Amino acid sequence: MAPVHFEEDYWSNRYVNHQTQWDIGSVSTPLKEYFDQLANKELKILIPGCGNAYEAAYLHDLGFKNVYILDISLLPLEEFKRKNPEFPYKHVIHGDFFLLDDTFDLIIEQTFFCALHPSERIKYAEKVKKLLSLNGKLVGLLFDDPLNDNHPPFGGSLEEYKSLFSKYFKNVSIEPCYNSIKPRDGRELFIRIGH
Ligand SMILES: C[S@@+](CC[C@H](N)C(=O)[O-])C[C@H]1O[C@@H](n2cnc3c(N)ncnc32)[C@H](O)[C@@H]1O
Repeated sequence: MAPVHFEEDYWSNRYVNHQTQWDIGSVSTPLKEYFDQLANKELKILIPGCGNAYEAAYLHDLGFKNVYILDISLLPLEEFKRKNPEFPYKHVIHGDFFLLDDTFDLIIEQTFFCALHPSERIKYAEKVKKLLSLNGKLVGLLFDDPLNDNHPPFGGSLEEYKSLFSKYFKNVSIEPCYNSIKPRDGRELFIRIGH
């Protein structure tokens, strides 16, 4: 499959036109409960394709000081900075996930993977592998639903994701999510993936 890439303009237009059906307006329950039990506030955390980044605001309020957010579109980042003036300015990155060069202890997945064309999934797994520190983990949610085939969100299944991530990681836990928000109930998987 030839790689397909949705560009910055595609995403910015969606924000301008308020076509942001993915935006749930707050941190999702599964991630909130995951964050609540994290003891190590020093973790260096990346939220790629963060959009309005409710997870980052929540983590910041919990006392996590090493949270980085990244999006290819400037619009939600500007909005985030306006709403969260106390969040470190330098931790707000406008750029392409695939070009980021750094390492993190934790990468959070919340409707970013499904925004990428399926032809970019191998690249996503390879990039996550490069960005994760030795004991680092990718944690978050993936859709357990086929969804669309020509525009985001693109879905998939537990088997598909397991087969993809097992090629790159030894520790691959993918389970049906038990505490999804109502509209996503029964259609989400909770993932924990590490080297
Ligand atoms: C479906 S939205 C999800 C936003 C947010 N995670 C949420 O759940 O509300 C996907 C986001 O990924 C961003 N994005 C798409 N491709 C990207 C890339 N290659 N690098 C960084 N961000 C990207 C888009 O601009 C958009 O904000």
